[in-house]
Amino acid sequence: MLKKVKWLTYFAILVGAILALAGCGNSGGTIDVGIVLPTKDEPRWVQDEQRFKDALADSDYSTEILFSQGSSAKEKENVESLLNKGIKVLIITPHDGAAAASAVEAAKKEGVTVIAYDRLITDTDAVDYYVTFDSMAVGAAQAQYLLDNTNGSDVPLYLYAGASSDNNAFLFFEGAWKVLQPKIADGTFKIANSSEAEALQDSDQLTRDQIGKIIGQVTTNWDANEAKNKAQTHLTASGDDLKGDVAILAPNDGTSRAIADVFSSDDAISNYFVTGQDAEKASIQYIIDGKQSMTVFKDVRTLVKDAMGMAVDILDGKTPETTGEYDNGSIEVKARQTDIIVVDKDNVKAELIDSEYYDASEFTGLE
Ligand code: BGC
Repeated sequence: MLKKVKWLTYFAILVGAILALAGCGNSGGTIDVGIVLPTKDEPRWVQDEQRFKDALADSDYSTEILFSQGSSAKEKENVESLLNKGIKVLIITPHDGAAAASAVEAAKKEGVTVIAYDRLITDTDAVDYYVTFDSMAVGAAQAQYLLDNTNGSDVPLYLYAGASSDNNAFLFFEGAWKVLQPKIADGTFKIANSSEAEALQDSDQLTRDQIGKIIGQVTTNWDANEAKNKAQTHLTASGDDLKGDVAILAPNDGTSRAIADVFSSDDAISNYFVTGQDAEKASIQYIIDGKQSMTVFKDVRTLVKDAMGMAVDILDGKTPETTGEYDNGSIEVKARQTDIIVVDKDNVKAELIDSEYYDASEFTGLE
């Protein structure tokens, strides 16, 4: 009997020790850098996740990546769960730039350094750094492409924009407007689908409110379906004078493909030039196939490198290097900015395959 009790005791001690070890594994697993991305539903952000994973493969610091699935509430939960794991640095792309303020304020309260990644968080002083591409240059490059590739005058110009909850949508549009407005004023382009833009066509500088009005009318909300529905509605309303050879400012690749599909199936459209950005694989195939005209390649490897470089500097007690500042409506946020590259059929191979961003085997018909 005594022997049996002894064995039971040993057994209990053993089980206890195993449980304690397992528990220790969990609670001891603190995270250094938390990364919050907006949605898995767009290839753009899945791409960022992969590039983060590649960059982190041999990092000494521990990281965790969470997705907010287009919800500010989920985003806040993600930040809270990372705070509970003891993060020191938060890298975050807000779903909604203003709504994210409360999440990053909670992080700041815990002494966490906040890095806005690609999209600025607005109207709060709880952002320490911003890593971004040159978003004004993205819009300007899209507009310049339309200008360089269309001929004659009164070319119908269809305008589309991103979500008004995304500060970038304003920067993209502002960059595009600076190039397009003089060419609307001199009769090269004729606005086809926005009375708000028409009302402002003599103003070369637009206020944020004015851009907001235009975006309110032609937003895609970064959603391919919304882009498709809007394009269908616009083409149904357009008479023949707004068809033929047309130019389309589409804000990114997902919306560009949706809009291109609508325009290419309208018999009264003889030719269209449509812009994009992100160099999504599906759009690279569209460019090779002549269905999308261009994309703006934003090399996510550089953005990830900059963001992680900053995070590591912070963890090592150094001050990260920055190259400029962005006004977020409350403070000037120290920023590090990366250039963009215009890609069309002529340089797609050089920029995306030869640079090993993508593999040639992922596409068909590539020369
Ligand atoms: C990003 C784009 C992206 C868009 C939609 C913007 O803030 O800069 O690259 O296509 O959001 O997700």
